[in-house]
Amino acid sequence: METAKKQCVLVTGGAGFIGSHTLVELIEAGFDVVAVDNFSNSDDTCLKGVEAITGKKIPFEEVDCCDYQAMENVFKHYEFDSVIHFAAFKAVGESVEMPLKYYRNNIASFLNILELMQKYNRSNIVFSSSATVYGESEVLPVTEETPRLPATSSYGNTKQICEDILRDAVASSKLKGIALRYFNPIGAHPSALIGELPRGVPNNLVPFITQTASGIRECLSVFGNDYPTPDGSCIRDYIDVVDLAKAHVSAIARMIEGKNKQNYEIFNVGTGKGTSVLELVEMFQRVNNLKLNYKIAPRRQGDVMSIYADTTLANTELGWKAQRSLEDTLASAWKWEQYIRSKE
Ligand code: UFG
Repeated sequence: METAKKQCVLVTGGAGFIGSHTLVELIEAGFDVVAVDNFSNSDDTCLKGVEAITGKKIPFEEVDCCDYQAMENVFKHYEFDSVIHFAAFKAVGESVEMPLKYYRNNIASFLNILELMQKYNRSNIVFSSSATVYGESEVLPVTEETPRLPATSSYGNTKQICEDILRDAVASSKLKGIALRYFNPIGAHPSALIGELPRGVPNNLVPFITQTASGIRECLSVFGNDYPTPDGSCIRDYIDVVDLAKAHVSAIARMIEGKNKQNYEIFNVGTGKGTSVLELVEMFQRVNNLKLNYKIAPRRQGDVMSIYADTTLANTELGWKAQRSLEDTLASAWKWEQYIRSKE
């Protein structure tokens, strides 16, 4: 990655869960970084954690990516050639109730970034896409060629629309882009200095599990045990957040080094292995040697039964593969939860 070294990367949403882990991996791979975040769903906890892990001061601007003028100032001020765009709203349920909030935020911010990249001649962008674009696929595992199905939430639709915007922007300019379709990111940095910090009641499974284990939530509801899966609960592909962060470094390096085969590329980022909700709950208890209070509850509206990735393309083209075991990832999630509670 010699040529990639000393390159600067702008990370939007850098104070968030995946953004903060990616800052660490970029710095450890030799990149300079600049981060922006509007703290709409975060605070400076993880930025401080990144600084503690790396021993580096992170250049940071508190900016909303929807604010074109403020973002233009960032482009004028910093000499990055690549951008990783994490900043977005991501609550599936909320997006159904407040679709316009999601369309305005997730799409307007991305348009600003792309327009400014073209105006200031910046070269490479990685976009945070999602496995949600596949919907309930009949064929598993899903490859990047598996047709996208109509989104079941406005959140999911913003991911599809932004993928298409990126495809078209790349086709009509010198820009190179990679969309990474994340499966279910979980876990925390092994230092336990950064991790997932959801505001309010968590929507996602693992933060709900760790908060139940720490006594903040009374009981985990397992949404459905009557699906036609081996144990009746839904199946997902849980990807460790540090592994996921490393996929971003590989994607940026691929474009900088000119190894991309097309100017717009898509990669699944998962482990390739499906795990059921009940298996995950059992594993969390075993690995962390504790008992979790949980009950079976009705299915959650909008959930797909089963989805997991074919990761061949990321393995062969990006030279990236998930490394950390699910056991270690679940241990790291619990370690982080305990660290955060100890600070209260
Ligand atoms: N689940 C529970 N109880 C909970 C929370 C979740 O049983 O309290 C179950 C869900 O029903 C699902 C599984 O745990 O079967 C995973 O649910 P998450 O909410 O953690 O994740 P999702 O798979 O629903 O959503 C994730 C991302 C979205 C993305 C979506 C794509 O959070 O951003 O994958 O499928 F859009």
